[in-house]
Amino acid sequence: MVRRIREANPARVLDLACGTGVLTAKLAALGPLKVIGLDPSEGMLTQAEKRTAGARNIYYVKGFAEALPFEKESFNTVTVSYGIRNFADRCVAFSQIYRVLEPDGTLFILEFSPDMPSWRNALQRFYIHSVLPVLGWMGTGKKAAYRYLRDSVESFPHASVISEELSGAGFSVISYTRWFPGIAVLFIAKKL
Ligand SMILES: C[S@@+](CC[C@H](N)C(=O)[O-])C[C@H]1O[C@@H](n2cnc3c(N)ncnc32)[C@H](O)[C@@H]1O
Repeated sequence: MVRRIREANPARVLDLACGTGVLTAKLAALGPLKVIGLDPSEGMLTQAEKRTAGARNIYYVKGFAEALPFEKESFNTVTVSYGIRNFADRCVAFSQIYRVLEPDGTLFILEFSPDMPSWRNALQRFYIHSVLPVLGWMGTGKKAAYRYLRDSVESFPHASVISEELSGAGFSVISYTRWFPGIAVLFIAKKL
């Protein structure tokens, strides 16, 4: 994802649902650009601030993707990594992202999105349904969080539905690529 973002010459970047700032930190390291990380969770933002304490080009804002507190056309790049699954209203969030992107700006979304059921991804579905919640529970002691992860991944729509929603919000030239082992999908959408 970061490689593809670098190729798009990011300058003013909004990292939505930035969580603890894993992607935010990588983006800020790409060069002389300005990155804003947005998340509704104070706890997440505190962790992100700690992670990126030395970076002078990162700013954090508390807020929701469905009501972005920015002027129109404020960014040339918007990123969302493992965030859209959690949005209360994806279509409203996509319209908001479209509003704050400048013309020719690019939206990058990375998300878990299982493929259509087939014998080839049976193992993948078994892993998400049965192995992941148990491993997560054993590793962190947080049973409910990993059940939520399983349920939200399993109920997430197919990538083609997300593409249609992006198109409905006004985006053009929408592509999506499945990454090994077919669970994560990278969407790239342009505002023309
Ligand atoms: C899995 S974490 C994101 C991880 C981070 N982007 C990364 O790559 O490490 C999902 C985040 O979505 C945030 N979130 C949930 N609902 C949101 C919303 N409506 N708008 C923006 N962020 C939201 C949560 O607070 C959480 O920090």
